[in-house]
Amino acid sequence: MAKILVVEDDDFFREAICDYLTNKKFDVTPALNALVARKILGAQDFDVVITDIQMPGLTGIELLEWSKTNKPVPFIVMTGFSMLLETQSAFEMGAKEFLNKPFKNTELIAAIDRTLNVHKTFDVIVPTNEYCKVSIEEFVAKPKTDFDIFIKLSDTKYIKLANQGEEISQERVNHFKSKGVKHLYILKDDFTKLVKFNLKISELMKSSQNISNEKKMNFLKYTGEVILEKAFVKGIDQESFIDAQSFLNTTMEVIADSDEHFDLLNMLNTHSDLIYAHSLGVAMFSIMIAKQMGFASSSTYSKLSMAGMFHDIGKKEIDSTILEKPRHLLSFEERKIVESHVNRSKEILLGIRTVPEDIIQIISEHHEEIGGQGYPAHKSKKDFHPLSQILQCANLFTGQVLTSKNHVGLSGPDAIKYISRMYADKIDTVFLVALKKLFSGSVGN
Ligand SMILES: [Fe+2]
Repeated sequence: MAKILVVEDDDFFREAICDYLTNKKFDVTPALNALVARKILGAQDFDVVITDIQMPGLTGIELLEWSKTNKPVPFIVMTGFSMLLETQSAFEMGAKEFLNKPFKNTELIAAIDRTLNVHKTFDVIVPTNEYCKVSIEEFVAKPKTDFDIFIKLSDTKYIKLANQGEEISQERVNHFKSKGVKHLYILKDDFTKLVKFNLKISELMKSSQNISNEKKMNFLKYTGEVILEKAFVKGIDQESFIDAQSFLNTTMEVIADSDEHFDLLNMLNTHSDLIYAHSLGVAMFSIMIAKQMGFASSSTYSKLSMAGMFHDIGKKEIDSTILEKPRHLLSFEERKIVESHVNRSKEILLGIRTVPEDIIQIISEHHEEIGGQGYPAHKSKKDFHPLSQILQCANLFTGQVLTSKNHVGLSGPDAIKYISRMYADKIDTVFLVALKKLFSGSVGN
């Protein structure tokens, strides 16, 4: 019969756990708090300790720390969303299992079973690629979570910290932020709902088996490398860059689950390195500009990253010798061919029922200009989607900073100066100001 020490200062909760475990034929000892538990642990042997975290006098974490050097016993820690940082410390100190309060009896028994049979500990863990990283900002303004929320304890271990529908205090989220917690994790299916992709993952998972995992992994690895090598511009705010990169990688992982989207990305990838790097760069800089301007929702970032990735997809059918020619050397016909890529991008994406409508609008407007001088529809500012100018700005900027056959990439600050001079009447300055702030370390006033 396994011996269990239950440490909980809430009388009702402690008694409920003890009664239930006694009925299940465990040898249970209650402890009213961690100080009492420390004395009991010093005198008796136990197979498992189940402990609360927050208790007067001595916390569950301090008890775990004491046990580590004085009386090693496997610990199950009862935790919750409000205990995120403490849970991470408990994991680092070797706690075996975590129970997110309130938990079900079956979860309690499963955690005890796993702790007693240590080799089975990781059996129930959802594969790590099922999780998506989401900025903690996403949880700031919402009283209740729409999704189960997890934290990542290690590469193979995630634990659930809050259940769907649970109240999350804003004060707590702000506290985590002040302690440097930047991301929480949600399941991939929930991520697609959060960013309102119309991707039907469960349906698509079946067909996505056609793409080998190896191929996907190579693709995603390559993607990361391209972003790092080509889209990084010296002097840019490092934190914004890493944030945008992480969001883009998450989005791409989700996108790569759909065969149709994956094929599109792969087409860009194989057509030319420049288009691919350009597309990822536009996606990255769009996210960074949006963030700088105060947009804080994953939904906005995801629209922009998808729009960035697919905006030039129409170019995949245009010969690279024309695409690589400097604009002033293009003949009238060649210019028409190049400009046709916008409508062609739109047509291709309209053919994929899962690409949201507003993303298609943003893409259709990426070469429009505020005064109506752009193409293809000569729209003016009042008709733009509210996010279109962000993509326009990121597109102009990426075009200037990336090196191609006929263009030596400018530094970030020089590209901004160039765009400010050449496009002053074509794009609202507020977007350039946001871009400039990303280089506040290197651009003068
Ligand atoms: Fe374009």
